[in-house]
Formats: sequence, C-alpha cells, structure tokens
Amino acid sequence: MNNLRKNLTRRKSVTALQADYERDGSTHGTDLVRTLQLKDLVSFGIAAIIGAGIFSTIGNASAAGGPGVSLLFIFTAIACGFSALCYAQFAAAIPVSGSAYTYAYASFGELVAWIIGWDLLMEYAIGNIAVAISWSDYFTAVLHGVGFGVPEYLTMDYLSASRGYQTALELLAEGQSLSALPGHIQAAYVAWQNAPSLGGIKLVADFPALAITALITYLVYIGIKESKRTANLLVLLKLLVILLVISVGAFYVKTDNWTPFAPNGLAGIMKGVSAVFFAYIGFDAISTTAEECENPQRDLPRAMILALVICTVLYVVLALVLTGMVPFGELAVGDPLAYVFSRVKLDVIAGIVATSAIVAMASVLLVFQYGQPRIWMTMSRDGLLPGAFSRIHPKHKTPYFATIVTGVVVAVPALFMNLTEVTDLTSIGTLFAFALVCGGILLLEEKQKTAIATHKGFRVPYINGKYILPVLLLAATVLLFLYNKAAVTTFFSMSGGWGSLQHKISLYGFIGVTAVLTVLTFNRNLSLIPVLGLLINLYLMTELGLTNWSRFMAWLVLGLVIYFAYGYRNSKLHQQL
Ligand code: ALA
Repeated sequence: MNNLRKNLTRRKSVTALQADYERDGSTHGTDLVRTLQLKDLVSFGIAAIIGAGIFSTIGNASAAGGPGVSLLFIFTAIACGFSALCYAQFAAAIPVSGSAYTYAYASFGELVAWIIGWDLLMEYAIGNIAVAISWSDYFTAVLHGVGFGVPEYLTMDYLSASRGYQTALELLAEGQSLSALPGHIQAAYVAWQNAPSLGGIKLVADFPALAITALITYLVYIGIKESKRTANLLVLLKLLVILLVISVGAFYVKTDNWTPFAPNGLAGIMKGVSAVFFAYIGFDAISTTAEECENPQRDLPRAMILALVICTVLYVVLALVLTGMVPFGELAVGDPLAYVFSRVKLDVIAGIVATSAIVAMASVLLVFQYGQPRIWMTMSRDGLLPGAFSRIHPKHKTPYFATIVTGVVVAVPALFMNLTEVTDLTSIGTLFAFALVCGGILLLEEKQKTAIATHKGFRVPYINGKYILPVLLLAATVLLFLYNKAAVTTFFSMSGGWGSLQHKISLYGFIGVTAVLTVLTFNRNLSLIPVLGLLINLYLMTELGLTNWSRFMAWLVLGLVIYFAYGYRNSKLHQQL
C-alpha cells in the first residue's frame, strides 16, 4: 500500500523538466531567448482567449440569462483572476515552459499530473471542437451572405437539427407559422426535413467544421507556426471587430430591451456559466511562456490579470450591446455578433464581422491544435502514453502522430456534436484543472518546504482568510436568502425523491468542502486568494448539471483506467526505480 502511494506521488525533478524542455526546444527550433515583454504576453493571452466564446457561445448565455449575463462575466473573471495568480506562482517557481501538467508532476507527483494532463485534453481538444463548430456557423453565414447557399443538413450537427425540429413541430402544432419561428429553429426544421436518410437515420453533419479542422491539422502537421507578427495582427483584428460591434451596435441599442435585467432570474443567468467561462479559457496558456519572458516573475502575473481585465471589459460591454440590440431570446444563434447586425439590416457590417470572425477563430484553432499534441508528446516522453505520441517527423520536425490523433479526435466529433455539449464538457474539465491549481498552491504553502512555496519569485499575495472567509460566506448566504429564496427552499426541500436529490449532490458536496475549508482557514490562517479561487471554481462546477458531471466523471474514470493499465507501469520514473 505504501509502495502504491509512493509510486502515485513520484515526482519529476525540476532539473529533469529543464533537460526535457531544452530537448524540446532544440527539436522545435525554440531558441529559448528571453524576448517576451509584457505587451507580447498580453497579446498572446488575448490570442488564446478571444474565440468561440465571445463570437458564439455568448449568444446562448444571453438568450438564457438576458442582459444580466453581463454580471456573470464579471463574477467569472474574478474566479479566473484568482486562478491566474496561482498559475503565475507555479510558473515563476518552476522555471520551465510547461503547463499545469508539468507543475503538477514536479509538485504533487504522477497521479495528479496524469489527471491534469487528461483534463487538459478536455480543455484543448474538446474546446477546439467547440471552436470548429462556431467557425462553421460563421463560415456558413458568410456563404449565405454572398448568395452561396449550402444545404442546412451539411452544416449543422445532428443533435441541434433533431432537437430544433421537435421544437418546431411543437410550435407549429400550437398554431405558429414557420416563418415566425426563431431563425435557428427554422434552420433546424429545414435541415431535418431535407436531410437524406440512411436506414432510418437522418444524415445531418457539420462538414465545414470537419474541413477547417482537417486544414488546420495539416498546417500544424507540416510545422506551420504563427509568427509573432501574424499573431499580433490577428489579435488586432479580433479587438477591432469587437470594438466595431460595440461602437456601431451602441447606436442600435434600445434600452427597453434591458428591462427586465434578469428575465429568468438568477437561475437563467447561471445557465450561462459554462458558455461564459469558456470565453475566458486560454489565459492560463500565458503561463507556458515562462522560459521565454524577459522578466517572468514580474510580467506573468501582470499579463494574465491584464488580459483578463481587457477581455472582461469587452465582454461585459458586448453582452450589454447584444442584449440591447435585440430581444434577448433571439440570441440563441451560433453567430450572434453577425446576427444582430443582419437583424437591424446592416448587412455589410454583418458581413465584415462574420468574415473577420472566420479568420480570428481559425487562429484560436491553430493555437490549441498546436498545443495539444505537444502535451501528449510530453506525457509520452514521461512514459505515461505510448512512444508513438512523441515520435517526431523527420522532415517537418513535428510530433506527427500526436498531431494526426488530435486532428481525428477533434474533426470527427465536430461533425456530429452540439456546441453546448462540448462547451459544457470543456468548461467543467478546465474548472477542475483550475481548482486543482488553486488547491495545489494552498497545499504547498501549507507544507512550506517545497520550492514552489519558498522560492523568492512571484507569490500569490497573502491575505489571511481567518476572519474574512467566514464573513464573505455569511454575506453570500444573506444575499441568497434576500434575493433567491426559491433556490434556498429547493435546496432544503426533500420532496421529489432521488430524481431531484441527484441534481443536488454536487451542491451538497460543495457545501461540505466549503465547511471543511472554512474551518481549516480559521485554524491555520490559510491564504484567502487560493481558497476563494478553489471555492469559486468548485461552485461554478456545481452549476453545470448532472449530465455534465456524469460525463466528466466517466472521462476521469476512463483516464484512470488508462493510467493504471499503461502509464503506471511504463512511467519513466517507475523504470528508473
Ligand atoms: N476562450 C477560447 C474561446 O472562446 C477557448 O474560443
């Protein structure tokens, strides 16, 4: 038993990590020169952050929560900010360009590292499915705009088409006319009706999503890397499009659309959690540049916070503009930023926005499609995945096998999966990784003997949580009683049996964790920021519903099975024993 524990917590030394990185660097032509300054880091962050979240999923979040979703953007940014500071401490203490996987391997050992690596798969690969689907929505809109109609069943996923068709049938049965239904329902209805059938199964699939993934994978395979110049230009393009939407859209805002501010209450706003959180994913990628920064200790935390602040301001204003331009319910479309302009008959602006979105989102795909195989490669070099994942192409010098697998893992599901489902899965996985990173800082600070806790570089500012945490929790409870009594009543109600109870398990678990952590914080004067980061990330996870939790758990269990069947025995650290 002791042996098992020892094996699961075997750690990789920072020197070994450094050696690996240098090898990687030479393989990929990274010169390891410390050239990145604050502005480069912020730009890198914005390149990874602004993508499908703000171009697409903000639509569904606003359709559920109304203008009040703008508050959720602020709340989520705070959670991300706390996690960012914890990431920064890891990045500064472990001076290699890694990801949370690398930090975990050095600090907690192999099992936690594997779980985080497996989780990052969700963040990068599954997240990219979402980006590919959104890309397809904008691409299709542009094609329609230039009069090139592609049948809906070739550009839509199966689930959206079948669900939309059912909704359309119900509304038609109530006497509504097809042309009066929301655009996305009409499209689903038409797609389902016109799709050919094979053995009773409707052939509906998102081919543009497949095509863009294949193209980007090919570029990554042959070793294309965005130059710093192109990346900066793309960031500029993204910012300009968003500013264009805000500045032109502001003239079309009807303030009536903002009342009521939260038409579906707090519950409606919280439905947007995964979509809103998804929009922030990517700031953590800044921490992977630790070794190429001029002054990582100073600039990494600043860059992450700055990128988050810039994006938050843009997101909040954008959410207000979108929900001000059209009644919130209409925003459940895949291309809301272009849609609002076609609704006010500004087709040229809609066209500019959609075309720019295509370019901007393709760049997000490139970033993550590039990053994912490299995480696999690292895990394979550590022996946790088969050697094929770290095989390098003799000519292109890229991890070609891992790249092709990433391409298939993203492209095939992108054909069939629904945007909301993949966003939810990505968000729950990433929230979990963030929670682990915040928890990690707490644990290491507690021990006070590891390099991460005692190093002289950036540390999460220490604020004693002893009294502040209980006061904050008390305030949150009072607010909940005052403004959302219904939620409190539902929480304590025992009616509805198992059916209703199972939806509350995660919340009960969260309350349990909060209670324990509050006592620990009080007794041991724990640092407030990582505690709050941990709690907020966990809380956001509880908002993601039973289906997502079940899928996430299944994903983790699958990961553990693979680890014990393969990685545990083949790990390089194991072999060195
Ligand atoms: N935040 C990134 C996006 O929205 C993942 O596409």
